Amino acid sequence: MGKILVTGVAGFLGSNLLNKLMSEGHSVIGIDNLSMGYKRNIEAHLGNDQFQFIEADVTEPASFSGLDDGIECIVHLAAFKIPRYGTALDTLQINYRGTENALEFARKLNCKCVLASTSDVYGRNPKLPFSEADSDSVIGSSLAPRWAYAVSKLFDEHLALAYQDAYGFPVTLLRFFGSYGPHQHLTWWGGPQSVFINAVLNDEVIPIHGDGSQTRSFTFVSDTVAGIYQSIVRDEANGEVINIGSTSEISILDLAKKIKELSGTPGELKIEFVPYESFTGKKYQDVMRRIPDTRLCKKLLGVEAKVSLDDGLKRTIEWQRQVTA
Ligand SMILES: NC(=O)c1ccc[n+]([C@@H]2O[C@H](COP(=O)([O-])OP(=O)(O)OC[C@H]3O[C@@H](n4cnc5c(N)ncnc54)[C@H](O)[C@@H]3O)[C@@H](O)[C@H]2O)c1
Repeated sequence: MGKILVTGVAGFLGSNLLNKLMSEGHSVIGIDNLSMGYKRNIEAHLGNDQFQFIEADVTEPASFSGLDDGIECIVHLAAFKIPRYGTALDTLQINYRGTENALEFARKLNCKCVLASTSDVYGRNPKLPFSEADSDSVIGSSLAPRWAYAVSKLFDEHLALAYQDAYGFPVTLLRFFGSYGPHQHLTWWGGPQSVFINAVLNDEVIPIHGDGSQTRSFTFVSDTVAGIYQSIVRDEANGEVINIGSTSEISILDLAKKIKELSGTPGELKIEFVPYESFTGKKYQDVMRRIPDTRLCKKLLGVEAKVSLDDGLKRTIEWQRQVTA
């Protein structure tokens, strides 16, 4: 496998994938407009002649022109995740236009395209675990803007599969379940663990949305990246939709307690319950439980989440302690 194009390279998953690709001896071209990513995440590779960084916007087709020198796979990670950080229009337009441009470029090169999707596409489906082929997407009301993200990613999935059907190049869709670790964004954009770690390190109150009984399956980034990497190099992943995540479930309230304990910081745990209604004034709908069926990931990619939550959180707390010091 030769040169790989990664969009969203300066973001959390992009920069961790970049580390892995470089360590495996690939040449990488990375695109990012640095809207939510950081140059510091990719700094270690900026002087390396096997890595080319292009600061550009994936919603512009021109950002991909002139790049077609031996690219064998496009990994499209650039996206706008949470509508409340901007608008639902940002989420819909960036995720639709960026994906269309990435797919058009893959069509032009006739190369494989691996695209980021999300566990959010299962929506409020109460039947667990979520399996790629059998679980329905149960999307909430259009009046709740948070569903714009899931809908944009579902659209991207259909668009990618339709491109594959129409033009014959392989696509792989990866549904990530809450990844965390070094390089994560230090706000809710990076996930609750990121906000909770900051609060604990600064002896501040941890904000818990709702009553904290909602659960998540947190996945350490090295396990997520192992899944992305195997999807790039294995033909078995072609044409597939694959969950990538851990099956170990924890409530948000227990996560807050665990982070406090693992941080070793003095004092009591301080928490505040934040009612969903206080978010935007608009209807907010949380997902109460999320667990992936990971059999396909194991079968096709040979990947299973290996890093325990305690271990992963310890490493993440250490990284966050250094980066915010
Ligand atoms: N991190 C997770 O747990 C998780 C879970 C589910 C899905 N995902 C998906 O995985 C992908 C990567 O997520 P992440 O957590 O690394 O997010 P991130 O925000 O850290 O990284 C995305 C990167 O894309 C860049 N970007 C955004 N809009 C762009 C544009 N128009 N042009 C160029 N670059 C642009 C940002 O600057 C950022 O560096 C996203 O598609 C996301 O939806 C992530």
